[in-house]
Amino acid sequence: MTPTSIAARAAVLSEVGAPPALRDVQVREPVGDEILVRVQAVGICHTDISLAARWPGKRMPMVFGHEGAGIVEAVGRTATVRVGTRVVLTFNSCGQCNHCKAGESAYCRQSTALNMRGDRGEVSGSVRGEHGPINGDFFGQSSFATYALAHQRNTVPIGDEIEMSVAAPLGCSVQTGVGSILNALRPVLGQSVVIFGAGAVGLSAVMGARIAGARVIIAVDPIAERRALAVELGATATVDPAAGDVVSTLAEFTGGGADHVLDTTAIPAVLTEAVTALRSRGQLGIVGLGAPIAELPVGLIMGRGLRIRGIVEGDSVPSTFIPELIDLHKRGDLPLEKLITTYDFADFDNAWAAAQSGAAIKPVLTF
Ligand SMILES: NC(=O)c1ccc[n+]([C@@H]2O[C@H](COP(=O)([O-])OP(=O)(O)OC[C@H]3O[C@@H](n4cnc5c(N)ncnc54)[C@H](O)[C@@H]3O)[C@@H](O)[C@H]2O)c1
Ligand SMILES: [Zn+2]
Ligand SMILES: [Zn+2]
Repeated sequence: MTPTSIAARAAVLSEVGAPPALRDVQVREPVGDEILVRVQAVGICHTDISLAARWPGKRMPMVFGHEGAGIVEAVGRTATVRVGTRVVLTFNSCGQCNHCKAGESAYCRQSTALNMRGDRGEVSGSVRGEHGPINGDFFGQSSFATYALAHQRNTVPIGDEIEMSVAAPLGCSVQTGVGSILNALRPVLGQSVVIFGAGAVGLSAVMGARIAGARVIIAVDPIAERRALAVELGATATVDPAAGDVVSTLAEFTGGGADHVLDTTAIPAVLTEAVTALRSRGQLGIVGLGAPIAELPVGLIMGRGLRIRGIVEGDSVPSTFIPELIDLHKRGDLPLEKLITTYDFADFDNAWAAAQSGAAIKPVLTF
């Protein structure tokens, strides 16, 4: 029996280098562990932008979007979420491998296939357009669409209190930024944290560092408005990289080097600075996507006993961490509204352009 489909509208990428464009599509009904979500808000993350720019033609047409939030419309036979539940969608994972079983699903062995490939290996396509199948499984959701087909493992109930537009970015940027601090780097009371890049991820990290009780929180970003917002959110100082030698300024502000540094820029030269800004035994977390290679001061890393680690999705276990983030928001510790600019889904082009240019820190499409 062929599953039936539902009429939807989606932002479809069909040309190398061009932006996605809104199209009429059909999304098939959920089977197995799948969950059909009527999307009410979806954030644009820098990962959508950078992957769309280099997405191979052979994997088009393609629907991006991995910060969806909405209401469960229908479920497959083995999914346990109820129809009508308010949910956010996050990254997908297999639930079976050693990492998933150890509570490290961000490092799932199937992560690339389940999040980055874009399809379900299904010939007819879970999403179809005028000209045939469209890849509709980006991060297990492809939520730049009025309906998204997600999975049991990447769907998290959010209760009734948080607004959809605020909940949407919890699924990626916010859990990545806050989680990189609270779950991965784990500064203790009184330590210093330096964050390179004050975009949605970096500013979420600033809020995380404040929650952790860091004494010195420094945001580095060339954009003055972003530095000002960082201060509003808890940074104790900011640095404009254009204003002079960043490393010596940071050494001064931290009293000789930072205990923790987070890089969200993925700029090779910034990564070198980020390592150099650490004090002995300090650690660098890398979340930025895109630096192919960077020059690192090996003698310094050895001599100071530094640690460098990559961080995916803030080491989060979304089913427990997203509800914690919602509590922090409720208590006023995560004023996410300050990062968000909402756009009507019909205005996708402008939202995409604002994300690309940096005019909006966290554009969220609403439906
Ligand atoms: N690892 C993960 O799981 C994960 C999850 C989400 C996003 N990401 C990645 O994290 C990165 C940040 O995402 P975002 O949405 O915050 O992007 P963003 O582009 O809004 O933020 C990057 C910031 O870096 C600043 N910047 C540029 N040059 C700089 C310099 N020389 N020094 C300091 N700052 C500089 C920019 O002005 C900008 O504010 C992206 O690469 C994204 O793909 C990774
Ligand atoms: Zn797994
Ligand atoms: Zn993302």
